[in-house]
Amino acid sequence: MGSSRNKFTSLLLMFCLVVLVRAEYAKYKDPKQPLAVRINDLLGRMTLAEKIGQMTQIERVNATAEAMSKYFIGSVLSGGGSVPAPQASAGDWASMVNEMQKGSLSTRLGIPMIYGIDAVHGNNNAYRATIFPHNIGLGATRDPMLVKRIGEATALEVRATGISYAFAPCIAVCRDPRWGRCYESYSEDPKVVQAMTTLISGLQGDAPSDYTGRPYVGGSKKVAACAKHYVGDGGTYMGINANNTIIDTHGLMSIHMPAYYNSIIRGVSTVMVSYSSWNGEKMHANHFLITDFLKNKLKFRGFVITDYEGIDQITSPPGVNYSYSVEAGIGAGIDMVMVPFAYTEFIDDLTYQVKNNIIPMSRIDDAVYRILRVKFTMGLFENPFADPSLAGELGSHVSSEQRNSFLSHFIRLDYSIFSDVSSSACRNTAKLPVKLSGNPWCC
Ligand SMILES: *[C@@H]1O[C@H](CO)[C@@H](O)[C@H](O)[C@H]1NC(C)=O
Ligand SMILES: *[C@@H]1O[C@H](CO)[C@@H](O)[C@H](O)[C@H]1NC(C)=O
Ligand SMILES: *[C@@H]1O[C@H](CO)[C@@H](O)[C@H](O)[C@H]1NC(C)=O
Repeated sequence: MGSSRNKFTSLLLMFCLVVLVRAEYAKYKDPKQPLAVRINDLLGRMTLAEKIGQMTQIERVNATAEAMSKYFIGSVLSGGGSVPAPQASAGDWASMVNEMQKGSLSTRLGIPMIYGIDAVHGNNNAYRATIFPHNIGLGATRDPMLVKRIGEATALEVRATGISYAFAPCIAVCRDPRWGRCYESYSEDPKVVQAMTTLISGLQGDAPSDYTGRPYVGGSKKVAACAKHYVGDGGTYMGINANNTIIDTHGLMSIHMPAYYNSIIRGVSTVMVSYSSWNGEKMHANHFLITDFLKNKLKFRGFVITDYEGIDQITSPPGVNYSYSVEAGIGAGIDMVMVPFAYTEFIDDLTYQVKNNIIPMSRIDDAVYRILRVKFTMGLFENPFADPSLAGELGSHVSSEQRNSFLSHFIRLDYSIFSDVSSSACRNTAKLPVKLSGNPWCC
């Protein structure tokens, strides 16, 4: 009697142990598992709510730890000028990002969120960040290696703030100087813009040569990049911002598309869709260019993100039929939506559409697979938090040695404005518009 009870007890114990080990070991959490195994394992565990959460990017003002965990939010952004506090330090940024990340990691599956910011000429939203020249000036240098080094410095200054994703580079080809955002374009010449996609390799690191189409981020001192705005943003009618790019297919492919080929070869992690239209059709609803061309023909394997309230603008006036915007945008092949405020509406609309077979589950799975691929590739599951040892990188790329490696280059090229720069002048100490009594050169 006694011995059989002991046997029974030890069997029960063993059973419990097996269950425990099983519950603890999840393939997706194991960095030794191949990428596809990790993604499929995690995707297979996810509910619809968890999947749609991954596709949702919200503004930092909404991103409490509670909201992150309740809605399984996959991504957060800082819109222009959206900062944790005036003159926030690298440490202030990092604690804010870490707090949100704790919310994400507290969920059932513990999928880390990815935080994105418009680090387009240095980490320009952060106080005291090094401010590099805008793209128009960098294009004028005709020096892709300089641009790459600016990407490397920017990656460090973004990581200094605990952030792992930069919405850069803008690879617009500005064809009309009346466009108010022409300075965000490297050149009117597509060849110059193609050459300057080195910024991607600076931000993300050098992708192996067989990486074409696959997202690449070389570890926790690099950041995910974003080629934008797909496609034709620099070709709008009379240079009107976000307007209609009237051009035939040959023109679009030979002027506005080439830099996307280079970006994809460099393993760019994400592509942002343009507010503009192509021959009257909003890019955010363009199934042919997003799904058939970018994803299927060019074999882009990262994720496609909207611009800020980008799907809202599918309708005129914007947001007048948001459920239609969701249907058209997700249907076109968009993977992550920069909502960024009305996120419960986005989640409710998309959930309804999937439950009612308006959007097929296969479309959701494609989106989430791509988002998870970027997150796994960049090591976000292994290193979800800010690295405090990088805090000192913020604003560190203008002094002494760094000044020589970056700025002396401009001086040599007789960009005489840079010879005027004092040691703090290129630091981000003011919000736009800048008072002219300050140094006018760098902001
Ligand atoms: C997000 O924050 C904005 C600004 O504070 C607020 O108006 C909006 O209601 C918030 N969104 C949600 C879904 O709570
Ligand atoms: C282009 O701009 C004009 C004038 O502002 C406006 O009426 C039109 O709706 C815009 N078109 C698109 C596609 O944005
Ligand atoms: C909004 O769009 C949906 C399609 O998603 C359509 O069924 C509905 O009729 C539209 N509503 C209005 C008010 O136009």
